[in-house]
Order: sequence, then structure tokens, then C-alpha cells
Amino acid sequence: MQLSTQQCDFFFNNGYLVLQDFYTSEVCDQMRERIQLLIQEQHEHIPKTIFSTHTNEHSKKKYFLDSGDKIHYFFEAGAFDEQGACIRPFADSMNKIGHALHELDPVFKHHSRDHRIKGIGHQLGLSSIGLVQSMYIFKQPGIGAEVLCHQDSTYIFGQDSDALGFWFALEDATIENGCLEVIPSPHTTPLKQRMFRNEQDEIYFEDYDKAPWPEELSIPLPVKKGTLILLHGRVPHKSKANTSTKSRHAYTLHLVDLSTPYPKNNWLQWSNSIPQL
Ligand code: FE2
Repeated sequence: MQLSTQQCDFFFNNGYLVLQDFYTSEVCDQMRERIQLLIQEQHEHIPKTIFSTHTNEHSKKKYFLDSGDKIHYFFEAGAFDEQGACIRPFADSMNKIGHALHELDPVFKHHSRDHRIKGIGHQLGLSSIGLVQSMYIFKQPGIGAEVLCHQDSTYIFGQDSDALGFWFALEDATIENGCLEVIPSPHTTPLKQRMFRNEQDEIYFEDYDKAPWPEELSIPLPVKKGTLILLHGRVPHKSKANTSTKSRHAYTLHLVDLSTPYPKNNWLQWSNSIPQL
């Protein structure tokens, strides 16, 4: 699979690109079924670590900081009562699973090593490709929280290159169930904020521009199951809460260029080396 010159230009000028029918419906179902199996198998072992983009409190938790090269489970705020009991069915309370399904789980490993992903990575400027992070995102009906506007390079920083995001719709993503939204922006868009992890495992942010995002310029990207949306590390994006009755499962994968050193003060670290594609 080759991106056309027009598609590459669109990506660098707008920070995103939509590619329909990347995965077949069967592949999407295979990944969704695999996740249900993992949840069933791991139910008793999963800590009820609540994940919320509003507080960033999760960042302080060791479970989160250790998840870079593991399969860890994160829940929606409000998934449990004060005693830690589930308010909803367990499997319907999950926010996401991160951040190494692509390395540790055979099904996700297989689909994350699709030769087309490598080809696109090279075409969009990465010379030595590292698969630094993956996430399975649930966006549950009724409880799937809003994700605030951000740039991925805030979290996965590169000194001389930006992370390249692959966002795969495993179900139809609609306006109602909280599809991805982007503020079209060129790849030269400055980084607004960077997240750091210091040697004491403390998380902090540096702000480079405190002006709010021009969210009135944001456009929703409703897409069909199987669609891939490519995201440049500098493109601001977000998604609204899912107020519908349908889930919006997605799988994301982030590529970095390993020809330049991966920063030791990024939050996400691998005990061994970052897997290469
Ligand atoms: Fe993101």
C-alpha cells in the first residue's frame, strides 16, 4: 500500500489522513473478541485503577507509570463506588488497556506488524520504526468520557521527530458515540505543552503556550468500522463523551523514529528496548 503524493501532502498540511477499509470487519472483530477474552481471564487480577483525563491523578499512580511495556487496565471515573465495588458490569466499566498489547498479545502483535503500517511509517518520514505504544480504547456507551484536546507529542516527545499515531476504528465511530475530532493543523504546529517524568518518577508539565485551542475550528471525523486515521504528533485532537447507547471501540498504535534517541524523561519507558517494526 502506497500513499499518493496528494495523501502525503494532505497529511503534512492538515496533520491527519483518513484511510477507509484498512482492516476488514473480521480483523476488527478478532481484536474485539480478543479483548473480551483478556478481560474475562484477567478479571480477578486487575487493580481498579481509575483513569480520567480531567484530573491526571492516574499519572501519579505506579500502575500507570509501569504500564509502558505491560498490559494494564484502566477504568472510567465513576466505574466504582467509594468502597471500590463495580457500579456497572465490570467489562463495561473499562476506559482503556495500555500500553504494550502490540508486543505482548499475539493477536495484537500480529495486526500491529501489518506490512502496510511499516510502509506508511517510512513514507511519512520515519527511518527506523519503533512501536512505542498501543492502546485499546472502549469509549463505553453512557460512561465513555470526553478526551480533552491535546497533541500526542505532549506525551510521546521526540527531539527531532514526532510520534506518528494510527487510530483504528474497530466499530463505527459517529458524532453520537464520540468519534475523533481534529483541528486541522500543519506538521509545523508548535508544541503547546510537554509532559515529563523525572528520576523520582514524578510527573510534571511544561507549558509553552497557554492560549486555549481554537476549538471552534475542530472537525469531527465520523468513520466506518475498519477505517484508519493517521495522526501527526502535533495535530490537536479530542473526542466528546459517548452519550449514545453504542460503544466506540478503537485501537491505537504509536510509532517513533528510533534513529534519534528516545527521551529518557518521557513518561512511557520500556525496561528493555522499544520493539522495532
Ligand atoms: Fe491522542
